[in-house]
Amino acid sequence: MNVHAAALADAHLPDEQTCAFARDAIEGLSQQPKQLPPKHFYDATGSELFEAITRLPEYYPTRTELAILNDRAGEIAAFVPQGAALVEFGAGATTKVRLLLQNCAVAAYVPVDISGDFIRAQADELRKDFPTLGVYPVAADITTPFRLPEAIAEMPKVGFFPGSTIGNFEPHEACRFLRSAAQILGPGAHMIIGADLEKDERVLYRAYNDAAGVTARFNLNVLVRINRELGGNFDLSAFTHRAIYNREHHRIEMHLIAKKAQNVRFLGTGFSFRPGESIHTENSYKYSIERFAALARGSGWKVCQSWTDEASMFSVHALVAEG
Ligand code: AVI
Repeated sequence: MNVHAAALADAHLPDEQTCAFARDAIEGLSQQPKQLPPKHFYDATGSELFEAITRLPEYYPTRTELAILNDRAGEIAAFVPQGAALVEFGAGATTKVRLLLQNCAVAAYVPVDISGDFIRAQADELRKDFPTLGVYPVAADITTPFRLPEAIAEMPKVGFFPGSTIGNFEPHEACRFLRSAAQILGPGAHMIIGADLEKDERVLYRAYNDAAGVTARFNLNVLVRINRELGGNFDLSAFTHRAIYNREHHRIEMHLIAKKAQNVRFLGTGFSFRPGESIHTENSYKYSIERFAALARGSGWKVCQSWTDEASMFSVHALVAEG
């Protein structure tokens, strides 16, 4: 057993999710450069902060995608087969899916998310507003294979992956996710997916460095989680948020920068930081229409249609599984 495995075995963590967080935190902070996977932003506070981000004046993706879904409702409805089951990968606010449910001839809705409690509560709300819709929540990690409910077995399947969450995957992970989604949804599957577009770097910079500092709090929240859930002693005032655009990789990078030399401990493991040292916490890849089509093609999907807003800020793609 290596020293990290021993620290984890001794830790008596309460559940599998906390164990996974502990594993990722110890492994990520032991690497050079230090890193933490972005999926750990989303505890209850992180999810609330993300919802606050989506309402910021600088953060254009959410409202732009909503506008596209609204403006193109007729074309999207024509793309969705009659009586289809809509399978949403990951759950958040229901605003976007409600738009699809209002406009498309969908028979069932399957929200899939690691947080079972959250999607069950969401499902109850949707059942009230769409009484004839079959709602079948599935608690699963969207990045690993899972089974769809028996009740939708005979229905055409349409995946829904809005919000440019695909941009938070590394390109090889995005490819793996799209392949796995094609397998889960089955032959003939359709997919509606949102992807943020490359644009003026100043617009991107402002979207991830908002004046009110909400993105900074969202970023720092992962250290708050380490302190609370893993018994860490991070001094939050000794780290600062930094988001930059990496032109070569077409991505926004989020970092937490140590303001001074310091040592931090959790789960019996120590980590030292140099002044200015970074913890790389998130990548948010931006795609051109062509690069997204190439990603889809290389992952078993064909792009049938791509919609953007007038200012070409965001894109929504309609895909059909090949083969
Ligand atoms: C969830 N995801 C698509 C967001 C993004 O824009 O990459 C997460 C985010 N990070 C900072 N602001 C928003």
